Formats: sequence, C-alpha cells, structure tokens
Amino acid sequence: MQYATSSDHKVLGFLGRALSLEMTAVQQYATQAKLVSAWGLTEDASKLQKESLEEMGHVERVISRMLALGVAPNASMLRPVKLGTNLRQLLLEDAILERDLVELYSQATRHCAKNGDHDGRKFFEDLLKEEQAHDADLVQWIKILETPKT
Ligand SMILES: [Fe+2]
Ligand SMILES: [Fe+2]
Repeated sequence: MQYATSSDHKVLGFLGRALSLEMTAVQQYATQAKLVSAWGLTEDASKLQKESLEEMGHVERVISRMLALGVAPNASMLRPVKLGTNLRQLLLEDAILERDLVELYSQATRHCAKNGDHDGRKFFEDLLKEEQAHDADLVQWIKILETPKT
C-alpha cells in the first residue's frame, strides 16, 4: 500500500498526526472519566466517558480515511494522560488538547483547499467543526465551574 505525490504525502502526515492526537484524546478522556467517578462526580464522569466515545469515533474515521488512501494506520506519538487534583484542572488540560486538534485540522483543511483536494478538505473540515464544538463546550463547562455558587 503506497501513495505517491508529495502533496498526498503531506495529507498522510496530517492523518498520522490526527490519529495520534485522537487516540491521545480517547486515552485522556477515558482515564479522567474513571478518576472523576472515583471522586464521586457521577454526572461529570459520564460526560467525560461520552467524550471518550466521540473521540473513538474520530479515531475510526481517521483509520477509514487512511485505509481508503492506501496506508496502514500507525499512531506512534501518544501523549501521556494529563491529570489534576480537581475537575477544573482536568478540563483545562482537555482544552489544550482540543485546541491542538483544531489547529491541526485547520492546517489540513487549508492544505487540501489549496490543492483542490475536495474530498480531503471536506473530511478535515467536518472534524474541525466537531473539535471546535468540543472546545466551546469545554470553555462553557469551565466557566460554570468557576462561577461561585450562591
Ligand atoms: Fe476528536
Ligand atoms: Fe475533541
């Protein structure tokens, strides 16, 4: 399985980085869900668990795309899970990861648009929108945690 031109090579690079980051997100959210559950925050734990499943869906989409382009997935750069001593700290770490995903998918979308790769642009743009929504949800969630309870 091989893909030839240099611009395609770049797309494969974006996909490889995407797979590593998405798998990092699965690992991070799944771990945080267990931790938060141990703290007794059941509702927050199930939100984090749901995030981890959504990220797993992204992993599957990236893998399908790689297979369609004729390459075997090989995520090689999993980041260590970022934890903390309270929910806010965990969510701040998640926001960093989501922003890295947004940045990666923005670059990939721009690259494909520039090269007239319509399918690639659509693929990355859909993921970009979903990661932007994740980031916005996190910002909102953190804001709620920072609002003093009356
Ligand atoms: Fe994702
Ligand atoms: Fe995400």
